[in-house]
Amino acid sequence: MTINLKDVHVVYPGMPNKPILNIQSWVVGPQEQVFVHGPSGCRKSTLLNLLSGMLVPKNGEVSILNDRLDQMDQRQRDRFRANHIGYVFQQFNLIPYLNAVESVQLATHFGKHATSGVRQNEIEALLEKLNISSDDWHKQASTLSIGQQQRVAIARALINKPTLLIADEPTSSLDQDNRDNFMSVLMSLVAENNITLVFVSHDLSLSRYFNRVDALSDISSLDGDG
Ligand SMILES: Nc1ncnc2c1ncn2[C@@H]1O[C@H](COP(=O)(O)OP(=O)(O)O)[C@@H](O)[C@H]1O
Ligand SMILES: [Mg+2]
Repeated sequence: MTINLKDVHVVYPGMPNKPILNIQSWVVGPQEQVFVHGPSGCRKSTLLNLLSGMLVPKNGEVSILNDRLDQMDQRQRDRFRANHIGYVFQQFNLIPYLNAVESVQLATHFGKHATSGVRQNEIEALLEKLNISSDDWHKQASTLSIGQQQRVAIARALINKPTLLIADEPTSSLDQDNRDNFMSVLMSLVAENNITLVFVSHDLSLSRYFNRVDALSDISSLDGDG
């Protein structure tokens, strides 16, 4: 299994008695694309932080690609994330003064294939595939349109060939046209590269792109007020 959570309990630091996530079992198979929805504040980002090892559970098993994140130390989790997981955020988190090519290049320094030079062609091919024309490759990220910035963010997330891609409301700041464009490019790249995708959003209209749709409230049950 790509993701296998068992009896996982999450609390925030300093609040040991307040259950934040309470997951009996949640399994995602290889190359599944799962849409997880729920209203703002329902702990979608917290779930993603757990999957990527940025947050460790109070107890329970977090198995990603058959490795136990909950048994790793922070260094091992950071390494694991760099090697296997791609992340696309709501705010694309591009460094404003780097251009499109450099933004993607930066990610290659952290990945398992960390080499130089040769990657340039790969980066350019990927940007091309994402409909970012060569005229725009050397413009600073901050001068690209929002839609282009979000597509550069996909390129950055995919350049290290992650097995698991995590997307945290990546379409929230896009208008309808950019949203449709972003989703179709994302879904075709995910299919083409056999990537497992966990995509969270409050926007239920996006569920039409997925064949598996889970409500966060069905993944995590909360006692009391949560
Ligand atoms: N480290 C933390 N300590 C305390 N509260 C937190 C922490 N991280 C997030 N929260 C709170 O938990 C709630 C849910 O968080 P989040 O996972 O971001 O929800 P969502 O992504 O569904 O909007 C928010 O109210 C947020 O303020
Ligand atoms: Mg969130």
